Formats: sequence, structure tokens, C-alpha cells
Amino acid sequence: MQEREQWGSRLAFVLAAAGSAIGLGNIWKFPYITHENGGGSFVLLYLFCIAIVGLPVIIAEMMVGRATKKSPVAAIEELSGKNSPWKIMGLMGVAASFIILSFYAVVAGWVMHYTYLAFSDSFSGMKANQFSEVFNQIFVNPWLNFGWATIFMAITLFIVIGGVKDGIEKAVKILMPVLIVIMILLVINSIFLPNNGFEKALKFIFLPTGGLHGAAILEALGHAFFTLSLGMGAMLTYGSYLDDKTNLFKAGLIVVALDTIIALLACIIIFSIMFAYGGKVSNGAGLVFISLPQEFAKMNGGYFVSIAFFLLLFFAALTSAISLLEVPVAYLIDKGWARKKASFTMGISIWLLSIPCALSNSEFWKNKFASVTMFDFKEKTVFFNKMDYLASNWLLPLGGLLIAVYVGWFISDKLRSEQFKIGSNSERPFHYIPWVFFTAVVSPIIVSMIILIEAEVIDKKAINQFFDGLVGSKTTIKQIHK
Ligand code: PFF
Repeated sequence: MQEREQWGSRLAFVLAAAGSAIGLGNIWKFPYITHENGGGSFVLLYLFCIAIVGLPVIIAEMMVGRATKKSPVAAIEELSGKNSPWKIMGLMGVAASFIILSFYAVVAGWVMHYTYLAFSDSFSGMKANQFSEVFNQIFVNPWLNFGWATIFMAITLFIVIGGVKDGIEKAVKILMPVLIVIMILLVINSIFLPNNGFEKALKFIFLPTGGLHGAAILEALGHAFFTLSLGMGAMLTYGSYLDDKTNLFKAGLIVVALDTIIALLACIIIFSIMFAYGGKVSNGAGLVFISLPQEFAKMNGGYFVSIAFFLLLFFAALTSAISLLEVPVAYLIDKGWARKKASFTMGISIWLLSIPCALSNSEFWKNKFASVTMFDFKEKTVFFNKMDYLASNWLLPLGGLLIAVYVGWFISDKLRSEQFKIGSNSERPFHYIPWVFFTAVVSPIIVSMIILIEAEVIDKKAINQFFDGLVGSKTTIKQIHK
């Protein structure tokens, strides 16, 4: 057995964990779901989910990793025995990493294509209707999709092969500070945009206006798991490379805070631009890929802003993808595999799974596989969307529920409290009991309810009525992902 690798410093761990958390979820997905759900009230709901479910669960995950110094499946074997049924939780995490990375690589590929377009100054001369054509082109062109996704997977694999210290740590130590600097520059730029764009954006994001759909709560909670990389063992795996001196509550809090701040700043940047130039905000994926480039073309210095924005998105995607690949790789390493062999095996397998995601929007694929109904290839974008839906709405919340119940009820209080107090100067830190309560009771109740609503065991109408009472308006469940 090789000796287990470790982060070189506490900062390296925090940067890597924040790098995993901060990704396409923050800069691409959060702004468009915030827009789809009407702004302020949704943001508030999301912050609530992050605070009462996200923070306790991230600490729980890091704790299991740090206590065992093992990746999910091996960690459970160590704590609960070789035949423990809890091992399923670890295996689900490996499956989730396959599913998420296979569509993540495709979107990251679009980001790389747009970074190339930004560098080559392609947006400035385009007419309004051409922006959606460009996006459509990458969306339906199998080779462009496949080619960029392949390059992205190759870069991710290259970093993960380098190992914890010489690969992941080196990459995040460069990429994360650059990401934060670009973010700050873009926010400063937003302040000086015309037509009070900045002020209007702040109002849109921070003023709760009610009118939430019941489905928003499903989306907010699912996204809380996705954005914090929870429920599939990524934080557990990163925690397993951590020393025995770092305080987990502090580390978890910093990662959650950084992730949340970046998501809010991304909204500020994007909506300031949209409000400043009065462009139509497209729904869904198109917000960043259609609406925004259109405004870059109108902006003074739009060339530089567009490069900065897409580079930011690319760096964010890369540091997350690294952690997505590290989960299955660490699984094999704990089974005795060499890192190189494990990385190639998992990297190539996930790349193969990303091919249907990359091609599923193209005519070529639909013609060839129209008869395969299992994945409804006939329906546009379905394979790709199904992967996102499966991961964000099912696998991650389920994984998060299991880890919360496991840490809350199935590991000893001695182990838990010892882990919790490391790095703190008190024998029994005052926030220990609240953390246990939120992990063992509050999170499982909330997440189970959401899963039951998702599974339609709890009637969605009841949720609508609850929201009606809360915001005083008639709302209907929006059938998202149907
Ligand atoms: N947190 C990432 C994002 O917000 O884009 C996505 C992600 C990365 C999810 C790693 C899960 C994971 F293990």
C-alpha cells in the first residue's frame, strides 16, 4: 500500500475545497435559477438551505474523511465494518461523480469555446440574432461539443494524475487566487455600468418580493448540495488528505462562506450587465451563453470583460471537475491501485460517458438513436438534462441525507466530539451541540421531506398552499424538469 498523501497546508485544503465548491454551479447555474425563480425571495430561501443544511453536512463529510484518512467506501468499512450496508452511500458517490462529470465536461467545453470566441473578439461584430445562433451551433454540433469536452477532460485528468500535492494543490493555488482577483475586478466594473445597472441588480438579488413557486424549494435545496459539492463524498475525500490540526467547523464555514459570496457576486456581475444594457434575459443555460455576450458587444471594454468572464468560468469549472474525478480515483487507490492507473481508468470511463451527453443534442444522435426510448433521445436535450436532474434532485440530496444520518446517529459521540474540537481551544466548543442537532435532526427532516415531495409521496398541492400562506399570493407548482 502506498503512503497516503496529504495537503501541504491548511490553506491548500481550504483552497481545494473551495475550488470544488465554486464552479459552474455558482457562476452559470445559480444566476439562471435565481432569474427563473424571480430573484430576492429565492436567494433568501437558498441562503436558508445553505445555513441549516449545507454547513452541518459539509462538516460531517469532512469529518468522516479526516477521521479515517480514507475515501468514502473505505472510510465506512473502517468505521462500520466490511459488510456495513452504509457502503452503498460511498458507492452512490462514485456513481454520482460519473454522472455529474459527464455533463459537467460538456458545459465546461462550451465555456472553453466561448473563451476562445472572447479572445478572438468574435462578439463585437455580431448582430443580435447571431448570438443565439452561435450557442445553437455549439449546442447541436456534435464534433464541437465532443472536441471541447475531450480537451477539458484531458486537462482535468492531467492534474489529477499529478496527485494531491503536485497536481491538485498546485493547480488550486494558482487558479483560485486568479479566480478571486478576476471576480473582484468584474464586480468593480459592474459599479460603473450605465443606467444604474448595479443598483437594479442589487435590488433584484436582495429584495425579497414573494411570489415563490413551491418548486423553488426543491431547486434551492438541490442546488445547495450541488454548489457545495455535497452528498457524493467529494468533501469527504478532500477531508481525508487533511492533517489532524485543522478545525473542521472553521474550515467548513470558510468554504461555505466563499462559495456563497462568489455565487452572489456572480449574480451581481451578470445582472448588473443585463440591467445596464436592457437586454432580454434568456432563460436557462442561455443566460450566460446568449444574453451576456450580446451585452459584452455593446460595452466599453467589452472585449476584456468577456475574456475575464469566460476565463473565470473556465477556472471555476476546472477546480470543481478535479474534485469530481478525484472521488472515483481515490476509491480505486484505496483498493490498492496506483494513482496513474486509477486516474486513467476513471478519466477515460467518464469521458466515454460524456460522449452521449455531448452528442445528445445533435441531429446525428437523434437520428441514430431515436428508437432508444430508455433515455428519451427523441426529446431535445433530454439525456443531458436527465443527468443534471438525476444528480441534483436525487443522488446528491439522498447522499447528503445518508451522510447526515450516518454521522448524526451511527458514529460514536466520542469520535465526533474529538474531531470537532481539534484546533479549538475549548474542550467542548459551544457550537458542538447545535451542530449535532442540525446534522442529526434538522437536516434529515428537511432533506427527507424534499425527497418525499420529489417522489410525489407528499402532495405538491400542500406545498403550494404553504407557500401561498407564506407569501400571500397564489402560486402553482412549476413542473420543472418534466
Ligand atoms: N460544486 C460544483 C459547482 O457548484 O459547480 C459542482 C460539484 C463539484 C458537485 C464536485 C459535486 C462535486 F463533488
